Amino acid sequence: MTIVAIWCRHQDDNIIGIGPKIPWHIASDFQRFKRITQGGNILAGQTTYESFPGRTLPNRKIYVLTFDQNYEVSDAENHFVITDVNALKDFDGTLYIAGGASIYKLFMTRQDDLRPDVVVDCMYQGDIDATLSGPKIDITPAVEALGEAYTQISQNYIEDNVLTRVYVKKNDFVDQSVVKHILNAIENKE
Ligand SMILES: NC(=O)c1ccc[n+]([C@@H]2O[C@H](COP(=O)([O-])OP(=O)(O)OC[C@H]3O[C@@H](n4cnc5c(N)ncnc54)[C@H](OP(=O)(O)O)[C@@H]3O)[C@@H](O)[C@H]2O)c1
Repeated sequence: MTIVAIWCRHQDDNIIGIGPKIPWHIASDFQRFKRITQGGNILAGQTTYESFPGRTLPNRKIYVLTFDQNYEVSDAENHFVITDVNALKDFDGTLYIAGGASIYKLFMTRQDDLRPDVVVDCMYQGDIDATLSGPKIDITPAVEALGEAYTQISQNYIEDNVLTRVYVKKNDFVDQSVVKHILNAIENKE
């Protein structure tokens, strides 16, 4: 199992959302996320899952984390409800952790095998949409864990005001085929 956290945060304040929405729209950032996760497995908190258009992401399996045992997904063939995060310890393959804030914190601050092996840290350097109302949601605890326990292994990629860097957990074996796939997807070589 390889666990990859992937996010796009705002520089300086680590905001990833205002209310249920991401407060910027950068097409190339969505495309990068799509290239990296295409055909793969995504884990999302219930709030983030509800924010996906049509509650889906085509060509991906989605694992929805919720405490609600009766939660109904939009596509029973490809979406799965997880009520106990520890059930993922037996996961076979690569799992992309796709938010939101509570989920990044949950995984990035763990001390066991569920702590992500790889982090794709995208940082938006432009202005956020100040017209949105709702609480500002940030991932500072996850970013602090990134600074403490991870090493940057990629170059700095900059596109459309988004700085993307790839990190791996210090002193740990990481499946190089996963890292290669992510770097190729960022560089649009696949
Ligand atoms: N910029 C980005 O990269 C990015 C990416 C993803 C999301 N976002 C943004 O992040 C925001 C949402 O973040 P959020 O923190 O409010 O919500 P969230 O993490 O998406 O979902 C929270 C929900 O997940 C479930 N959950 C959390 N911990 C759990 C656990 N240990 N076991 C079982 N279920 C658990 C609970 O669902 P139940 O209440 O159903 O029990 C909880 O209410 C939105 O603004 C979204 O747009 C941004």
